[in-house]
Amino acid sequence: MVNFGVKENEEGKDNSEEGMKVTPWEVEGVVDYDRLIREFGMQSFSEILPEIPEPHWLMKRGIIFGHRDYHRIVSAIKRNEPWAVMSGFMPSGLPHFGHKMTMDEIIWHQKMGGKAFVGIADMESYVVREMSWEKCKEVGMLYIKSIIALGLDENSIIYFQSANKSVKDLAFELSAEVNLSELRAIYGFSSDTNLGKMFVTSIQASDILHPQLKEFGGPKPVIVPVGADQDPHLRLTRDLASRISIFSFEVIENGMRIRSRKSEEHLRKLVDLLDFDKIVYEEHVDVFGNPAEIESDVRNIEIEMGGKAFIPPSSTYHKFISGLTGGKMSSSKPESFISLLEDPESAVRKISKAITGGRITAEEQRRLGGEPEKCAVFEFYSFHLVKEDKLMEEIERECRSGEILCGRCKRRAGDMVYNFLKDFQERFELAEEKLDSYDIIMG
Ligand code: TRP
Ligand code: SF4
Repeated sequence: MVNFGVKENEEGKDNSEEGMKVTPWEVEGVVDYDRLIREFGMQSFSEILPEIPEPHWLMKRGIIFGHRDYHRIVSAIKRNEPWAVMSGFMPSGLPHFGHKMTMDEIIWHQKMGGKAFVGIADMESYVVREMSWEKCKEVGMLYIKSIIALGLDENSIIYFQSANKSVKDLAFELSAEVNLSELRAIYGFSSDTNLGKMFVTSIQASDILHPQLKEFGGPKPVIVPVGADQDPHLRLTRDLASRISIFSFEVIENGMRIRSRKSEEHLRKLVDLLDFDKIVYEEHVDVFGNPAEIESDVRNIEIEMGGKAFIPPSSTYHKFISGLTGGKMSSSKPESFISLLEDPESAVRKISKAITGGRITAEEQRRLGGEPEKCAVFEFYSFHLVKEDKLMEEIERECRSGEILCGRCKRRAGDMVYNFLKDFQERFELAEEKLDSYDIIMG
């Protein structure tokens, strides 16, 4: 059982006792973030936080709560070695604040020195949402203009999956490494799942791995910032990275044990070329020295041999925000979320109608204070509106002490959303003119 809480192999059926279900295509119930860490081998972000020179505010606030192998990124930054940031967006509805989180994370990593890759997952949308190619393109362009408006710089690779030959070819090769039982276990697919839906899992793995292809400079750490629901894709992709590469690594005392997944011939050739102390066994070789240096030399040799030598991708995970009306955000409930492109007045109205952690009467709220942990407005401040921790603490204090009542608090949040959207939408218009200076791979 590898899925988040899907206990049966039948797609779409929730058999988890806790009522938590997280697959890349749906999120139901309350997500237990600690459980994702305990049961699925995700690491808690707070452990790595002190090593990051100037962490993003979503990291400090614990909204980015988990990661896999982020240390690879930290050390690439510190040593000034090449690395990349990659994430993808499936065309569904209008761009919203949820997309903005991932977009901001890509941009932040780009500012930290990562080469940025932005995928528009039109193939995924075609099979999962049954969206026409024209509609995929139309919606995809809105996402592209949004990320440009938010500050993505020109030195980026932006593409639609369906137009990217490197991604499609690599996906095909990756698909040869995956079988149905595995897809069942990871995604809960069943015998009625169509082939397209199965194949887009390889496409996504390929999105994530293709920045390491030779044409993009070869193996390098790649960080994939995503929502927690995408972790099944990352578990599969990390596994595929090793499966499709020739040599595998295991840390041993004073060095690395290397095996070949292909032929013995490869191992023998490696032994000849690798300039370290080593003991050669029949099925593996033990190499002594600095593990990172050994790994990097072995990868270079693999590339020369025509292998891929992929490094398992790193990832960060952010939490999901609840809907403004309580429960989850849903595109079928327009009041539950705010689009980046909606009329700012309408956004203010939605904030004013959101559920809060306020008390029944004003008198009671002044006496007892509000309950920010139950408040969608407070969550919106924390996820989207307030970068400064000081201001966030101040908002919480005013709420808990009863110093501010919900009406005024919502007006303040409304003003912030209004100003943000006004400014964003101006930049969005300007992005149209800037499109030409970006490298966009589209059909
Ligand atoms: N499946 C993702 C979603 O539904 C989109 C996506 C496609 C993606 N390719 C990716 C995310 C690669 C991260 C990396 O939002
Ligand atoms: Fe939410 Fe603000 Fe009301 Fe507190 S005062 S419950 S933060 S709306």
